[in-house]
Amino acid sequence: MRPGNQAKIDPGGPLCVTGAVRVEMPGGEVREMSEAALCRCGRSQDKPFCDGSHAVEGFADDGLIHGGRLAPGEDSGEGDPVTLSCAANGPLLVRGPLTVVAEDGRTSSGAKGALCRCGSSATKPFCDGTHRRTGFEAA
Ligand code: FES
Repeated sequence: MRPGNQAKIDPGGPLCVTGAVRVEMPGGEVREMSEAALCRCGRSQDKPFCDGSHAVEGFADDGLIHGGRLAPGEDSGEGDPVTLSCAANGPLLVRGPLTVVAEDGRTSSGAKGALCRCGSSATKPFCDGTHRRTGFEAA
């Protein structure tokens, strides 16, 4: 049996997503992938993907879940793909089954939520709306 879709939090680095992953780009293009490293620090020049900028710029993050969670979604079952779409100058929006796995093994499973990609949320890996205050520009 195929393991479900997972998003492992890399401490100080990206969100490493595996499974049946659909990444919806800002222009609407959809990329179907089995794995992707998605920027969490907000500094990648290849957003929504990681380009290694976190290492150069020193993204301070311990890889733990600091708050927030994924919520249940309607009509999504195990084996379904997860779609991660880029909100304009905001988070990655989750639609479909996903388990977020923290560095300490803690998890949050669900099918709906918002994952921080600006690097400034106090509830990483989830968005807490801080991107609006900091003027995060994803382009
Ligand atoms: S994207 Fe970082 S707080 Fe919303």
